[in-house]
Amino acid sequence: MTSVVETLPVDAEPACRPGALRIGQLGLGNVGSALAGLTHRSAAALHDHGISLETCVALVRSVSRPRPAAAWVGTVTDDPDLFFAQRLDIVVEMIGGIDPAFALVRRALDRGIPVVTANKSLVAVHGEALSDLARHRNTAFRYEASCIAGVPFIGTFERRPLASRVDGLTAILNGTSNTILTAVANGDTFAAALAEAQRRGFAEPDPTADVSGRDAAEKLTLLIRRFGQRLVAPAQIPTAGITGIHPTDLRAARALGGTLKPVAHASWTSGTLEAFVSPAFLPATHPLAGLSGATNGILIDAPLGRQCYIGPGAGPNVTAATLLDDVYEVATEPHVRTPPAIASTVTTPQWARESGWFLRIATDAPAADISQLLATYGVWTSRIECVDGCVHALTFCATPRVLRAALDAVATATRADVAGYPVLSAEEPAC
Ligand SMILES: NC(=O)c1ccc[n+]([C@@H]2O[C@H](COP(=O)([O-])OP(=O)(O)OC[C@H]3O[C@@H](n4cnc5c(N)ncnc54)[C@H](OP(=O)(O)O)[C@@H]3O)[C@@H](O)[C@H]2O)c1
Repeated sequence: MTSVVETLPVDAEPACRPGALRIGQLGLGNVGSALAGLTHRSAAALHDHGISLETCVALVRSVSRPRPAAAWVGTVTDDPDLFFAQRLDIVVEMIGGIDPAFALVRRALDRGIPVVTANKSLVAVHGEALSDLARHRNTAFRYEASCIAGVPFIGTFERRPLASRVDGLTAILNGTSNTILTAVANGDTFAAALAEAQRRGFAEPDPTADVSGRDAAEKLTLLIRRFGQRLVAPAQIPTAGITGIHPTDLRAARALGGTLKPVAHASWTSGTLEAFVSPAFLPATHPLAGLSGATNGILIDAPLGRQCYIGPGAGPNVTAATLLDDVYEVATEPHVRTPPAIASTVTTPQWARESGWFLRIATDAPAADISQLLATYGVWTSRIECVDGCVHALTFCATPRVLRAALDAVATATRADVAGYPVLSAEEPAC
């Protein structure tokens, strides 16, 4: 293992400014580089707010990689022991994934060092365990940037426990999927839209997690824990990605008075947890229907009324700004620690809830025949359109099980490619 600090003894103190709060960065990639630069450029503004921050050390996978952001960091190393040999006031984790992020974050919290992270995978799987450890060590574990990075709503709700009593939520949580569907709706190809999202740095080089819905399922998991007090595993959430959407679906959705969006939904009013990640038809009047490109949003259904938070969901600069705000809060407001334990129960989410459905049946059979066959199985169409040689329809409420049986029957009778996506009404509950 090589390291630019390998000549330092293990308990060495780096040459950081006396009096400055010492940040250790786990990761100096897209987000880590943006954070190091922002911390450097924000020195005067932070000084006006009474604090001084200094990025003393960054842990990376390979020190041989050239990285301009190293100019803003005291020491770049690939050795975790040398990273933790520094005296650190705050650790910011931006490695991503579970391994080695989990062990490194645990190591910091175990020493009482507050941790701020942008890593939704880590928070989705180990969020409660890490929060427990932080409480045990009387320190902070904060993750505002891990979900809708540019919109600070998680901390807002943590500090408003009465407002946090919510019944459910509907959100657009993946900027890449939303960018692709927006661009395809405007006539782009799927591939060109994906390439543009990658060029702008908010789609991963491997976009599988984005387009399969897994990224949104991880974020939904942490939102269900935060707002629904239920522990679920991301893999348990019924999940459909955007890869099955055809350009003709987006044209048909518009003709039917709405749009298709990559939606994450959860509700728990009935006692059971209903949750899914899937493309969904939103009528044009839905508060999330107008969100385009990388914009994310969350609609929170609370007994006191609906609340909607909208803003940039990803991008290195946006994420870095939220991380730095978390660092600032941890540094300046000792009471902003880890929120009280959530009395969570382990739950298996279901997708059994009745809804209307947006259907595609790729057939030139008469629309009236399709409508009649669907009705035989208890699925009643409210509108039906033929777009580009495909039958598209909106239905009245049916359960996913009833819909599946009806679509299977249609597929058998017509040999057509069929698909169904839920309709979310502008005013919940719909059915
Ligand atoms: N990109 C965004 O817009 C965005 C938005 C919100 C949240 N996030 C989250 O932010 C985190 C970072 O994303 P990113 O886009 O910055 O990723 P990235 O560009 O791949 O950066 C990851 C960093 O972690 C380092 N690293 C990886 N494996 C390591 C290991 N085993 N030991 C030590 N260091 C290791 C890498 O080192 P090398 O540089 O040597 O490879 C790199 O510096 C992820 O959790 C992501 O989900 C990203």
